[in-house]
Amino acid sequence: MTTSTASAAVSRAEGPGRQPPRQTLLLLGATGDLAARLLLPGLGRLVSEGTQPGLTLIGSGQEEWDDARWRRRVADSFASAGADGPRETELIRATRYLSADVTREEDLRRLLAACHGQLVIFFALPPMVTARTAAALCRIGLPPGTRLMLEKPFGTDAVSARSLNDILARLVPEDQVHRIDHFLGKSTVVNILGLRFANRIFEPVLTSAHVACVDIVFDETLGIEGRAGYYDGAGALVDMVQSHLLQVLALIAMDPPPTLAAGDLRGRKAQVLRATRVWDDDPVRWSRRARYTAGEVAGRRLPAYVDESGVDPARQTETLAEVVLAVDTWRWAGVPFRLRSGKALSDRRKEAVITFKQPPRVPTGLTGYDQPDRLRIGFGPDQVGLDVNINGPGNPMELDQVHLVADFGPGELPPYGEVLRGAFEGDPTLSVRGDTAEDCWRIVEPVLAAWRTEAVPLQEYPAGSGGPDDSLLVPAGGEWP
Ligand code: BG6
Repeated sequence: MTTSTASAAVSRAEGPGRQPPRQTLLLLGATGDLAARLLLPGLGRLVSEGTQPGLTLIGSGQEEWDDARWRRRVADSFASAGADGPRETELIRATRYLSADVTREEDLRRLLAACHGQLVIFFALPPMVTARTAAALCRIGLPPGTRLMLEKPFGTDAVSARSLNDILARLVPEDQVHRIDHFLGKSTVVNILGLRFANRIFEPVLTSAHVACVDIVFDETLGIEGRAGYYDGAGALVDMVQSHLLQVLALIAMDPPPTLAAGDLRGRKAQVLRATRVWDDDPVRWSRRARYTAGEVAGRRLPAYVDESGVDPARQTETLAEVVLAVDTWRWAGVPFRLRSGKALSDRRKEAVITFKQPPRVPTGLTGYDQPDRLRIGFGPDQVGLDVNINGPGNPMELDQVHLVADFGPGELPPYGEVLRGAFEGDPTLSVRGDTAEDCWRIVEPVLAAWRTEAVPLQEYPAGSGGPDDSLLVPAGGEWP
């Protein structure tokens, strides 16, 4: 199943086919890194497809930029995604920049007055600023039908996420709130749906009767790439696990939704996340944290994390987080889900691996069973793989493991293009529902609390290494559990 098939299925379920109305995308935090690196390139690709005619873009930030400077920023970002055709040029020609303090009512009124047609507001802002801006919008009101897009992290803990949800609920109905998790716009993440539910091969064996454990790993070779201002306050657990990796867990572990309409799909994900908690309720035993020291990654010298500009070592921010979770459902009882993400590691490893139990009995006479069977879902490169034991070449009584791989190639749109399309079409399927955003904090909070008490030591690993030696992914003493 390709991404285009998956997204088409999502769109069909919501029944588009209508003429898109005239829309304005009001981008708050427009001069920031997120907008330049991810959001505007995604928008450029979407615009180049021609599915958003009549779209106007208005950028706003605190900096005193003029329209010309803003247009250069948009043009550069579009060009970085190869989006420089006539439609994109037309949008760039018409886009405007308005400097504003978006926590002030009078500035927000001025911004809203500049917008026409159906309005989509993207908050590319830190969580505290987002909350203050949303509260100010409550006081002045929004045009009917306005859709809100909110970048992660959604709040800073369960309490602040709940309070932000309360404010948003006063502004617009829940299905007009698009809490962005760009992993939900990644092609192979969406393709988990096709892999699981569009054939009879895998789904029947995705249960505790057959699965030994599930690993969801996102190891990066990149360091923090000048993002200390954001990252040092977040750390790997919040940056990657609380958001992206829990979304992947939900898609792998949820029960089949009857349709891909937002209500069904998000309902299934919410159910499984509600049943998710730290393994044995013991975050001290079942979590690890570490940060990188100086080293070399892929020929590039990286300073120690604590020496990166903007990092406050006293914060003890981790650049690698591991946590083992239990999903308390009939289907998954007893199956550990091991989530891990780290920066500045020796190898990029971005995949979910479902490891199967041994067959009940390998017939006497067949030798060489030494590896479990595994289903691998790769998030870059985008592929699905199967490591499976079969008779090998040569001696047919000797088992060999073969590795079957199907490449998906990149999706039609980059992830931010995909999630923007959802908001423009009024389809929240690929965004995070309010209760789920709160639940994802509930899942990681015991870990954060244990880390605050120092009960889990902050380990160190050299940049360019494989991470700390006692990773939970390879438990000491061999096979899980
Ligand atoms: C972002 C995180 O949300 O996701 C980054 O803030 C991380 O730290 C990134 O590198 C990974 O996603 P992608 O799409 O760049 O692989």
